Amino acid sequence: MPRIAVIPGDGIGVDVTREAVKVMAAVRDLGVPLQWDEFDYGADKYLATGVTLPDSEIANFRDNYDAIFIGAVGDPRVPDMKHAADILLGLRFKLDLYVNYRPCRLLDESLCPLKGKTPADVNFVVFRENTEGLYAGVGGHLKKGAPDEVAIQTSVNTRKGAERIIRYAFEYAKKNSLTKVCMSDKSNAMRFEGDLWQRVFWAVAKEYPEMEASHWFIDALLMQMVKRPEQFQVIVSCNMFGDIITDMGAQICGGLGLAASGNIHPGRTSLFEPVHGSAPKYAGKDVANPLAAILTVGIMLETLGYPEWNPRLEAVVKDMVKSGNTPRDMGGTLGTKATGDYVVGKLSG
Ligand code: NAI
Ligand code: MG
Repeated sequence: MPRIAVIPGDGIGVDVTREAVKVMAAVRDLGVPLQWDEFDYGADKYLATGVTLPDSEIANFRDNYDAIFIGAVGDPRVPDMKHAADILLGLRFKLDLYVNYRPCRLLDESLCPLKGKTPADVNFVVFRENTEGLYAGVGGHLKKGAPDEVAIQTSVNTRKGAERIIRYAFEYAKKNSLTKVCMSDKSNAMRFEGDLWQRVFWAVAKEYPEMEASHWFIDALLMQMVKRPEQFQVIVSCNMFGDIITDMGAQICGGLGLAASGNIHPGRTSLFEPVHGSAPKYAGKDVANPLAAILTVGIMLETLGYPEWNPRLEAVVKDMVKSGNTPRDMGGTLGTKATGDYVVGKLSG
């Protein structure tokens, strides 16, 4: 029976996770054997006890759970983001979750801010490298606080790291009968890491002669995503650029309220989260859109071996848009709780 560790986290993470758990309960009641436990890691715990996320708990998740679901972490009372970095980056790095999987699928034409683009035009997935690059935490300050202070942040790129995410992108394309894989970097300016990504990408592409491999520089890629999103099926990029690509991707599919993601190491305990953050100004007000968290449950179930639920949950969202039953950020009036109840009603009804 799949076991899930649930971390609601901070801010609206708590609000949306409550609805995601309701959906998990509905799915369980419909016959999928799921079991979950909640963990209270987040800003409150950190401020009260100094504990962020102990290594022993990460080991517990790795050894005793099949998946981790997290709402969001981030709180204005912790300006240096210490707990959020320990929790989120700690899980990504210590569980070696090298695949950040972020589908960008437009579910209804009315959700797209691009003129004339339909669900057939905006339907691609982004694979963001999730363990290296500018997020590796390598760098430091010199003369911090002085007028001539220096800050250095180093981008760490290994051949193994680039190769495994690029290969995963091609394998995903192959398994899903797709034919196009695009890599994006800034190899014209960032010569050393760019050179490594270029060599690895084209070498791996050679092993998949049936695929159409392509490349855009990151700035040009973002222009193309707005101009001709229909050219993309699979996009692969480094940690930093993948972060930026997927916020833009979320926006052309209806916004952060709908964007779901998985942080995956194939075959190991993986982490699932809505792309958005803790939006503190909306916390506890019953206005956050829980659909990103609910669609994240779909991706989690897919990864746990129940792929039929993702399209079922997407179908419910499509139906909500068509019938005008949507939360505020999508133009409707449903609160967080009412949105969760609506989804559960449709699944069970
Ligand atoms: P955010 O995603 O929390 O919010 C940005 C804006 O998007 C919000 O003000 C709101 O207008 C909208 N929004 C986001 N999610 C929404 C939802 N479910 N329903 C309705 N509207 C929604 O990003 P922001 O403001 O940059 O960061 C706030 C905090 O969240 C910070 O502490 C940040 O570090 C943290 N954060 C955490 C992430 C995570 O846990 N994975 C990811 C991004 C930010
Ligand atoms: Mg982001």
